Amino acid sequence: MRVIVCKDYNEMSEKAFEVMKDVITKNPKAVLGLATGSSPEGLYKCMVRDHEENGTSYQDITTYNLDEYVGLPKNHPESYYTFMHKNLFDHIDIKEENTHLPSGSTQEEADTYEKQWDAVTCDLQLLGIGRNGHIGFNEPGTPFAQTTHIVDLTPSTIEANSRFFDHDINKVPKQAISMGIGSILKAKKILLVASGAEKADAVKAMIEGPATESCPASALQKHDDVVVVLDQAAAAGLD
Ligand code: F6R
Repeated sequence: MRVIVCKDYNEMSEKAFEVMKDVITKNPKAVLGLATGSSPEGLYKCMVRDHEENGTSYQDITTYNLDEYVGLPKNHPESYYTFMHKNLFDHIDIKEENTHLPSGSTQEEADTYEKQWDAVTCDLQLLGIGRNGHIGFNEPGTPFAQTTHIVDLTPSTIEANSRFFDHDINKVPKQAISMGIGSILKAKKILLVASGAEKADAVKAMIEGPATESCPASALQKHDDVVVVLDQAAAAGLD
């Protein structure tokens, strides 16, 4: 793993953008795996700014998102579909038909998404990391070979995500459809961004701990092209 430590969230986003931009420049038809959440928001802002100021085009880019809540309508303000449109897709020239998010509540629908994913080669998979080391919605204990699946969210993830649902855990969906760790590892290159002290333990376990199912992100040790971009607080526990 290549680890880059930045002074703060903004620098982390700029650095991550450089990695992303390099992939897009080399291949304007790149397939990108995308994530939602606070971690990639700054990177998406950099992409939008670069599109507006430098005319970088996403016309031929294809995207596949990691995950989506089960049971939220597409246009719900907290759906990941809405997040991606609000933060990125509505501000660049990507074609709607080239953007993909998993949807549904059955394993059959999850398998269909995995088949679509298998039919392409992802050039860059972007990830955040949860406080418990989750990637996508792959919570501790998820087998590393797992493909797209329906997940019951853990209490800690429901609690963490309640900030988007009026801080009311009763409003947070209890299931998600998520690419598995095995799906994520199929990408040619992986870019993980993390900021803030609350991520420090998970980051340390991911990089320095053993590759174990109790820290899903530690599976990335098994991939040969991973770039981790951190702010100082998230990197604080590293040796
Ligand atoms: C989101 C996702 C999650 C987040 C993780 C960190 O698509 O897959 O694994 O990356 O929960 O979330 P933030 O960035 O909000 O701290």
